Amino acid sequence: MKRTAIRAAKEAGKIILSYYSKNVNAISKGSTYNLVTKADIASEKKIISIIKNKFPGHSILTEESGEEIHKSDYCWVIDPLDGTNNFYHKFPMFCVSIALYKKDKPMIGVVFDPLRKELFYAEKNKGAFLNNKKIRVSNTATLSKSLLALGFYYERGSLMRKTLDQMKRFFYENIHGIRRTGSAALDICYTACGRFDGFWELYLNPWDYAAGSLIAMEAGGRVTDVQGHKYNLMMKNIVASNGGIHKDMMRILEK
Ligand code: IPD
Ligand code: CA
Ligand code: CA
Repeated sequence: MKRTAIRAAKEAGKIILSYYSKNVNAISKGSTYNLVTKADIASEKKIISIIKNKFPGHSILTEESGEEIHKSDYCWVIDPLDGTNNFYHKFPMFCVSIALYKKDKPMIGVVFDPLRKELFYAEKNKGAFLNNKKIRVSNTATLSKSLLALGFYYERGSLMRKTLDQMKRFFYENIHGIRRTGSAALDICYTACGRFDGFWELYLNPWDYAAGSLIAMEAGGRVTDVQGHKYNLMMKNIVASNGGIHKDMMRILEK
């Protein structure tokens, strides 16, 4: 299963890169700034066909075509292109995210950045890896030594105001900085390998964090929702950290 997930992510990555050099059109979905391109659709098609070919009885949940539910303990959770807005604007920060869940528990997580050829993956209880090298979260223990990442969901109302307030409060703690990369899956993986000390976003869908969260937890990190509930696939917001600054992040976020 891990091999299939990795193969699907790499094949999808090739497809995405083949569109990256062209000028692709984007269609808006929901709001004018929530985009989908031919690359999202082609990548998703490829991933689904590879998975269905190997595991026809498994359920599948994808961002663009929704759910295909079978009587199975296994469910694949797929974001065929995380960072579509970046991709469309040729900002080089996007990835493919594929996770496998068994009875709602994460078993495998694969996140592939095709531009940098960075493959993040984890298997439950087997650690987390970046291109075959074991990764660990940072050991930063205080906010004042932290580099954080955040995401803004496609909402320009109360969630955005809340996020901006939280951002301000983090800056008052004299943190080193805050980054917004535009790919939640990469933000979580960057937390897993210590490039970020923590990440939060006030609204996400399961396909945005399903793979990254397992990778972060297997790398020694902590993942909860903003209220501090244990990680699960139904949570609609996320705090992923190295563990050491988790409590302090929650304190600032909850204010
Ligand atoms: C988005 C990205 C972004 C995050 C949004 C997501 P998409 O995914 O992960 O960083 O802030 O909330 O929806 O639409 O590019 O797959
Ligand atoms: Ca996404
Ligand atoms: Ca997507």
